[in-house]
Parts: sequence; structure tokens; C-alpha cells
Amino acid sequence: MGQYFTNDESLKSEYRYIKYNYDDYSFTFTSDLGVFSKDKIDYGSKILLENYLKSNNLKKDVLDVGCGYGFLGIVISKIMESYVELIDINKRAVHLTNINIKNNKVNAFAYESNIYDNVFKKYDVIITNPPIRAGKSVYMKILNDSINYLKSDGELWFVINKDQGAKSVIKELSNIYEVNVLEKSKGFFVVFCKKH
Ligand SMILES: C[S@@+](CC[C@H](N)C(=O)[O-])C[C@H]1O[C@@H](n2cnc3c(N)ncnc32)[C@H](O)[C@@H]1O
Repeated sequence: MGQYFTNDESLKSEYRYIKYNYDDYSFTFTSDLGVFSKDKIDYGSKILLENYLKSNNLKKDVLDVGCGYGFLGIVISKIMESYVELIDINKRAVHLTNINIKNNKVNAFAYESNIYDNVFKKYDVIITNPPIRAGKSVYMKILNDSINYLKSDGELWFVINKDQGAKSVIKELSNIYEVNVLEKSKGFFVVFCKKH
């Protein structure tokens, strides 16, 4: 069986629909076989998003790295009225995200990118539930290289499980960022980083 981040052209399609509500807003996400957390919103992503929304972050230009079917970026775009770009290496994830952008009527754009290969601008915020299963070299590059794609007052937001080396990741990122752990829940750490 392919991993959720591989591009398997022969994989059949079985759409499913996931609902998510926040305040008075209702979202429906089209999901499919071959993408991360295809049947329900991932708990780590949910607490990352809800911490972000609670922070009343009015920053406008957001990049969602490893977007899956677009949960984080699409909800942020709607609620914070932000322009959001969403990237993933998985073609099916990008396709689903574009369907979900249209159906949820948000100002956003999704495109394929291996890490930041196709990213050519700087953002106010980078948000990610990084692909741990893709290996340390991939997820550490997503986290460390984020600094090159953030404006001078930019912020990195991410979630990571303590069993996936949260503490060592935080230690490494402390070399380049001021790192704050905002919530610890069910083993997940929600982390917010600002440039020094
Ligand atoms: C843990 S999932 C998070 C998905 C989505 N953001 C969510 O919260 O449901 C990580 C995502 O990173 C993507 N990914 C894996 N390797 C990648 C790479 N090298 N470049 C970009 N995205 C990658 C996967 O395809 C997957 O969609």
C-alpha cells in the first residue's frame, strides 16, 4: 500500500465528505483514498488550527505546507480573511484542496511542491502538520527552511507528537526561532515560532 504522500496514478477514487464547524462557520471537505487522515480531521491538525484561530492572528499572507485536502489553510482563509496558498507533494491532495477551496468559497490557491521547491515568495505565516512519515530529512527541511520563506516578522506554526521527537525538534528550531509551546494535548505539542 502506498504512503499518503506518494503519487499513485493507479489508486482508485472513493470520495468521502468530512464536516467541520467553527463558531457559525460550516465547512465540508471532499476527501479520498490516498491522502492523510482521509476519513476524519486529524486531532493534531484540529488543535493546531484552533490555537491559531484563538490567537486572533490578523496576518494576511499564509502558506500551508503539506496541505492534504486543505483543512488548515481553508479554515484560516475563511475565518481570518487571509489569502492562503497551500502546497503538497501529493497530486491528489492538491486536486482535493482545489475542489475544497471552490466549495468552501475561500480566497486561496493550491499547487504542487516538493517541500519549498515551487515557492518563490515570502509569507506572514507558515503553518504545517509536517509529514513525519516522509522521514526526518523532509520534515526538518520543512521546519528549518521555513525561515527563508517568512517576512521579517513572520511566524511558523506547527504541531508534532512527543513520540515523534517533539523535544529535539523544538531544541533544534530554537537555534533560529524564539519557540513557544502553546498547548500539550494527547501527546501533541502545538508550537508557535517567531524570528529572533
Ligand atoms: C501530516 S499530513 C497533514 C495534512 C493536512 N495539512 C492536515 O492537517 O490534514 C502531511 C502532508 O505533507 C505532505 N508531504 C509529504 N512529503 C512532502 C514533501 N516532500 N513536500 C510537500 N508535502 C509533503 C503529505 O502528502 C501530507 O499531505
